Amino acid sequence: MEYDHKGPQLPRARGPLSSAVMDHLLDKGPLPAPGDVAGADPYGDDLQLALYLCYELHYRGFADVSPDLEWDPELLRVRAALEHRFLTALRAGTPVHDRVEDALGELLVEPVDGTGVSHFLRDEGELWQLREYAAHRSLYHLKEADPHAWVLPRLWGRAKAAMAAVEFDEYGGGRPDRVHARLFADLMTDLGLDTTYGRYLDAGSAEALATVNMMSLFGLHRSLRGALVGHFAAVEITSSPGSRRLAEAMRRTGAGPAAEHFYDEHVEADAVHEQVVRHEVIAGLLEQEPHLAPDVAFGIDATGYVEDRFAARLLADWRAGRSSLRTPLASETSLIS
Ligand SMILES: [Fe+2]
Ligand SMILES: [Fe+2]
Repeated sequence: MEYDHKGPQLPRARGPLSSAVMDHLLDKGPLPAPGDVAGADPYGDDLQLALYLCYELHYRGFADVSPDLEWDPELLRVRAALEHRFLTALRAGTPVHDRVEDALGELLVEPVDGTGVSHFLRDEGELWQLREYAAHRSLYHLKEADPHAWVLPRLWGRAKAAMAAVEFDEYGGGRPDRVHARLFADLMTDLGLDTTYGRYLDAGSAEALATVNMMSLFGLHRSLRGALVGHFAAVEITSSPGSRRLAEAMRRTGAGPAAEHFYDEHVEADAVHEQVVRHEVIAGLLEQEPHLAPDVAFGIDATGYVEDRFAARLLADWRAGRSSLRTPLASETSLIS
């Protein structure tokens, strides 16, 4: 079989599920039975990595892994079992809002004591913590907007036109140097990080993987189009104030002009995107499909939930004086000490 041998390297397995999926990708062993998934921790390293591996076949794949495996029925059956476990946990873990406005209202409540990650980084973050944050976020930002593009064929009318307009901005408005994934790679260069796609997959925590897996889950299923739109709204609405704090963190630590620019750009752009997503994408979708309101609310709530878990893990590690990455950066690069 002819296929592209280029692509990110496969990461190291984190348990029996991810190990079996990886063996299958390399044609070296059987997949786990769907029943094996039932007892796995839905937020644990092993399940989250196994799911991430399945999803990555829809983005850029892996070196020496056949692209045809994207639609391998055996793998899709396992993926469905992993997704079921994850989605069930997400539904159980998120607050129940039937009304989109209630979910959006909760999103806008800032942490009372200002203890979010962006608050921490703005006020007391050190360069090594900014680098760790960027390494984690690179799992998404180097494919920024891609999980959301999958929803376009599932929308129509106002919602589709508005979603496409926001995605056009995320993809640089026709300018490759302005593609947001490119701007993030430039930020990584300022921080002395390796911009190779997939470079920090091994280092990323299960909590970080879960934030990206949730987007892929919502994006890849038409039945979850409402959740994808809710998720996208949550990202755009929280981005502007968070980006302002992160831009301040980059300035205060002297991270560099591209590092500042990525977040400055998002302060401006996402203030506009927020309005478009609220008034055109969500309102347009619910005008056409009002029965999707609970799904939109779920997408908003679930985003807050996985982001809170990610933030709690980062802050717990940093407050304990340890790296939040599975492979601390200091051990692999000495570009910035
Ligand atoms: Fe963006
Ligand atoms: Fe945006």
